[in-house]
Amino acid sequence: MKTIAVEDKYAIPFFKKLQISIERGEGVYVWDEGGRRYLDFTSGWGVTCIGHANPVITRALCDQAEKIIQNPSSGLTYSPPRAKLLELMGSILPGRLEYVFFSNSGAEANDAAIKLARKVSGRTDIISTHKSFHGRTISAASATGQAKHREKFNPLMPNYRFVPYNDLEALDAEMDNQVAAMILEPIQGEGGVNISPEAYLKSVSDICERNGSYLIIDEVQTGFCRTGPMFAIDGLDIKVDFLTMAKGIAGGFPIGAFAVSEEIARGIEMGDHGGTYCGNPMGTAVSYAVIRYLLDNNISEHVHTISGAIFRELDRWKKEYADLIVDVRGRGLLIAIEFNNAADAAAIYAGCLDQGLFVNITQEKVIRLFPALNITQEETAEGLRILEAVIAGRRDK
Ligand SMILES: Cc1ncc(COP(=O)(O)O)c(C=O)c1O
Repeated sequence: MKTIAVEDKYAIPFFKKLQISIERGEGVYVWDEGGRRYLDFTSGWGVTCIGHANPVITRALCDQAEKIIQNPSSGLTYSPPRAKLLELMGSILPGRLEYVFFSNSGAEANDAAIKLARKVSGRTDIISTHKSFHGRTISAASATGQAKHREKFNPLMPNYRFVPYNDLEALDAEMDNQVAAMILEPIQGEGGVNISPEAYLKSVSDICERNGSYLIIDEVQTGFCRTGPMFAIDGLDIKVDFLTMAKGIAGGFPIGAFAVSEEIARGIEMGDHGGTYCGNPMGTAVSYAVIRYLLDNNISEHVHTISGAIFRELDRWKKEYADLIVDVRGRGLLIAIEFNNAADAAAIYAGCLDQGLFVNITQEKVIRLFPALNITQEETAEGLRILEAVIAGRRDK
C-alpha cells in the first residue's frame, strides 16, 4: 500500500508500526484505507475522549478556522475563544488552582511546571516515582521513572530523584530543603495503570507542604473524566500547586495546559514562559467544545456506568481465566488487564487486532483499555466479546 511504503521510506522510524493505515473514524470506530472497520478501545491513546469525528469538534474547528487560527503577535493579544475556555476551566479546576496557561502537549506542560517550580521555590531538585511517565522532551524524560525512556539520552537534566510509587517512607526519607517539587500521576497510565490510594495522595501533599516543596499533579492521562470525575484528584483534600493536562482536554486536537495556585502565580514574572502556539484560537475553541460536551452530557456519570459494566465482566474473567490473568484494575475508563507473561499479552493484543479491535499494551504484560468516554453499552459489549473470545482462544492453545 502506497501510504505504508511512503511512510516507511521517509518517516524517522521511531516506532515499530502496525501495517494498518487509518483513513477515517466515527465514534468508537475507525476504517483503514482498504475499508476494514476496527473498534478503537484506545481512543487514539486516551485522547479522542468524545469519539472520532465528533461533529461538536468539527463544528468548533470550522467555525474558528473561518475567523482566525493564530493571533497577531501570538500571545501578546487577547482571544475570545481563549477567554471562554479560561472561564470554563475556572469552573472545573480542583482546589485552589486558578490560573492557566496553554501548552502544545502534555510533555510541554510538565516541562513548564518543573521549570517554574524551580524558579518560584529557588530550589533545584525534583522527586518523581518509579514507573512514572511524564513525556518525551528532555526534562519530562528526566522526570520519567522508566529506564527505557531515559538511559539512552544521558546526560539527562540533573537533580531528579526517584522513589517507589505509593511508598511514603521512601518519599519522607528523600525529602530535604533542596526539593523544589514532587511530580506525580494520581494513576500511572503508561506505568501499567497503577492506582494510588487517597490516603497516599493526602500524605504526599502533607509531606510536600511540610517541606516547603511544591506538588505537581500530572493529569495528562487521567483528566477530563477519564477516571470518572473531571479530574482524578477531584474531592481530595490536597494542596496542589501545579496541575498538568493534555490528551482529553481537546478530544484529539493537540493542546495541553497547566494550572497553578495563587502562590505560584505570584512567583511568576513576565517573560518566564511562552510559546508561539500557546493558547491559540483553534486549540482553545476545540477544548471549550469538548469540555462543554463532557459537562452537558454528564459524561462523568456515563463513565461510571460503563466502567461498572466492564468490571463486572473483568471480575468474572479473572476467575474464569485465572491461568492467564493475574489482575484486573483501573478506574473509570482507564482499565488494565495484567497477564501472567508478555507472550500471552502480546498474543492477545495481536489476536484482538486480527478480530478488528484496537487495545493497547503497556509494561509488556498489561493490556490497557481506554475507549472513548461516550462509548455505548452495545459498543462496549462488542469489544468485550471480541476480547474474551481471543483470551479464551489463547487458553485453549
Ligand atoms: C501521565 C502522562 N504525562 C505526560 C504525557 C506526555 O504527554 P504528550 O504525549 O502530550 O507530550 C503522557 C502521555 O502519555 C502521560 O500519560
